[in-house]
Amino acid sequence: MGFLLEKKQEHESACESAIREGNLRAGIFHAAKAAEFALALAASTSDNLLARYTEDAEGWLEIAERLKTNPPKNQKPELKGQKTPDNSTDSPDEDWLVSEKPSVTFDMIAGMAEAKATINEMVVLPLKSPEKARALGLKAGGGVLLYGPPGNGKTTLGKAVAHELDAAFYYASGAQIRSKWHGESEQKLRKLIQTAKSQPLAVLFLDDVDGLLPKRSNQSVVDNRIVVQFLAEIGGFEESQNVLLILGATNKPWEIDEAVFRTGRFDEKIFIGLPDEPACRGMLHMHLDKLPLRAGFDFEVWVKRLAGYTGSDIVGIVNAAKRAALNRSVRENTDPLLTEQDLDDAFKHIPSSVTEKLLQQYQTFQQARFG
Ligand SMILES: Nc1ncnc2c1ncn2[C@@H]1O[C@H](COP(=O)(O)OP(=O)(O)O)[C@@H](O)[C@H]1O
Ligand SMILES: [Mg+2]
Repeated sequence: MGFLLEKKQEHESACESAIREGNLRAGIFHAAKAAEFALALAASTSDNLLARYTEDAEGWLEIAERLKTNPPKNQKPELKGQKTPDNSTDSPDEDWLVSEKPSVTFDMIAGMAEAKATINEMVVLPLKSPEKARALGLKAGGGVLLYGPPGNGKTTLGKAVAHELDAAFYYASGAQIRSKWHGESEQKLRKLIQTAKSQPLAVLFLDDVDGLLPKRSNQSVVDNRIVVQFLAEIGGFEESQNVLLILGATNKPWEIDEAVFRTGRFDEKIFIGLPDEPACRGMLHMHLDKLPLRAGFDFEVWVKRLAGYTGSDIVGIVNAAKRAALNRSVRENTDPLLTEQDLDDAFKHIPSSVTEKLLQQYQTFQQARFG
């Protein structure tokens, strides 16, 4: 049993490496071998694992078949008698895919000057001026990973990028794909990527990418296949005329499978941390400027006090203060007026949603991963 599992995992890893190296024949061989060992495991196991390993075997066979009939674009199949690739671009199911352009703009994101500049330089300019980029030997497209503690604008920034570009936009949240389509996630993911790749210019935003491409383990045989499927599907897009930008976002970069980093699918990583003073100031003005504020409201005091809070904490505190002001206004039958006292009451009841320990985890990850 232990032996079979070990062999299965060996072939899974070998399959992944083969795909990464562009060795299609070996990829097919190892996927088929993984299926074989999954079947052997199914045959030697108890009832509840039987279904799981059988399904796993089917999944690996599908991957082998898929590599055979529809190889990643930069790999020449060495096999004779293959079927014509099915370039199916039927639209994936609407409920986990948003292909509408988001309405969020860069202006709606306070602060984050550095992250915005990096994104602009790395992503927006090459895609907006492809000829100039090419003349300078820069390639458009590729992958960018936004990572950092929850609630600080990763999703918002990703959407703003899509808005900024005149590109087809596809959004999928890893958690959503997996919870809704357990068992079918590979096919869904594959369809999604194929649809995005069929567009001349597309942004594929994989939110919560840790949920989609988690570290492989014995626990979930499904995860192992999703990761390999992703690598196979995404490979070679730089060879095509079409340009695909993959934007990933995650709160837990350490839970993403190592292979995803190794392939250079996310060559660029941008840390999105807690709002700094300009970001906090910007958010306060964004949310308060149009409101009736008590005279003498001191923004600078709040910029200092809100240090250590996340972007969504700040929005939460402001909203709680607004509700308190409304309550008072109705109760006392007075004109609505937001005071610093309202903000103070909210502030005292709402703690920051990140811990020092969590912040430390990002540093540890950075050091381990990027030196
Ligand atoms: N820099 C920012 N400027 C404006 N709003 C922000 C900013 N950072 C966070 N927010 C607010 O916090 C909410 C959560 O941000 P989100 O992009 O979902 O964070 P993440 O994806 O990092 O968890 C947003 O809806 C937005 O209201
Ligand atoms: Mg998010």
